[in-house]
Amino acid sequence: MSLIPSKWYSRAFSLTVASFTRVHLLRTGIALGLFESLREPKTGNQLVQESQLAPDLLQAWLRAAETQGLIRVTRERDRAYVVAGLARWLLQTPRSKSLVAVLDQLVENYGPLHERMPELLRGIERPDFGTDEVAGRAAEASRLIERSALEALARIPGVRGSKRVLDIGCGHGTYLTGLLLRYRDAHGLGIEQNEDVAEIAVRNLAEADLVRRSEVRVGEFMAFDLDAGSFDLILLNNSLYYFAPATWGALLERIFSRLVPRGLLAIQVPVVSDRAGSRMMGHTANTAAFDLYLRAHNNLYGLPDLALLHTVLRETGFETVAETSFLPGGAARYLWARAPANEN
Ligand SMILES: C[S@@+](CC[C@H](N)C(=O)[O-])C[C@H]1O[C@@H](n2cnc3c(N)ncnc32)[C@H](O)[C@@H]1O
Repeated sequence: MSLIPSKWYSRAFSLTVASFTRVHLLRTGIALGLFESLREPKTGNQLVQESQLAPDLLQAWLRAAETQGLIRVTRERDRAYVVAGLARWLLQTPRSKSLVAVLDQLVENYGPLHERMPELLRGIERPDFGTDEVAGRAAEASRLIERSALEALARIPGVRGSKRVLDIGCGHGTYLTGLLLRYRDAHGLGIEQNEDVAEIAVRNLAEADLVRRSEVRVGEFMAFDLDAGSFDLILLNNSLYYFAPATWGALLERIFSRLVPRGLLAIQVPVVSDRAGSRMMGHTANTAAFDLYLRAHNNLYGLPDLALLHTVLRETGFETVAETSFLPGGAARYLWARAPANEN
């Protein structure tokens, strides 16, 4: 007989249902500006008048949001509410836009995919990843860890002195922007296969006044004509899972040949880590879910097998191969490798 009482599972089940609801309550509160409006105390009636929303639904939404701690009663006398807890934090944190993109991603992308998961597991054709909307959301969501990633990158020996940087799959160009703003005498080239995404990268670099030190080219990296030995640092930020493991050899050889002697390759990857810090922060569950999401697409591959990646890097000729972690428990890492002083 199990030592864990059935009540515990019953509670766990209720909390699971509640967390699903919380995601939707948050999205509605954000979409309708309700949390924003509740920065100041307001009663249900005041909110109804101000918003013209359906009174019964709005009152029920307020009660549901209150039970989840997203708003709280600040005046008992007329039941005035203010934004609270997680919703309050979401309004205030500088990472707000990326966190909202994660909520949108959950509902708009993960939801429909999981609905089809039974059939996908039975073998129906997997959908392609890549509409502009989905890619844009993914790019915004991935900015969540950008600052920590750039700090981790700076800890890799040799990165700070890099003058010529190539960013493969540069997305919205925010990594290149962050890097070039940190290293004032570096020049960056971003390669991005999605034309609309590349346009945003060009705009972001221009807004940061980096036009003279940056360039974005549209196209597929493997088909690009790039001179041998022309980069000190090559980045693959969250783009390795666009390449089938069977093609890593060709990809890494191409990268290797474009690096100067002692040039660096830094590959950013989320990792399903078993360590306590990662489990405690919820990263382990979320990166495992991300791996499932990736694999359920026709044109993406799962999170990389790190041992295999180390081996392929060494076989390609890289001399030093190491890892720098930057989320608790190593849930995200740079796997970096240095080309030898002399390629022969
Ligand atoms: C998940 S996004 C990451 C964007 C950015 N590096 C970041 O971390 O925020 C991956 C990007 O790589 C681009 N990409 C994937 N494979 C590529 C290839 N072979 N050549 C050029 N771009 C590629 C995709 O279009 C996409 O914009």
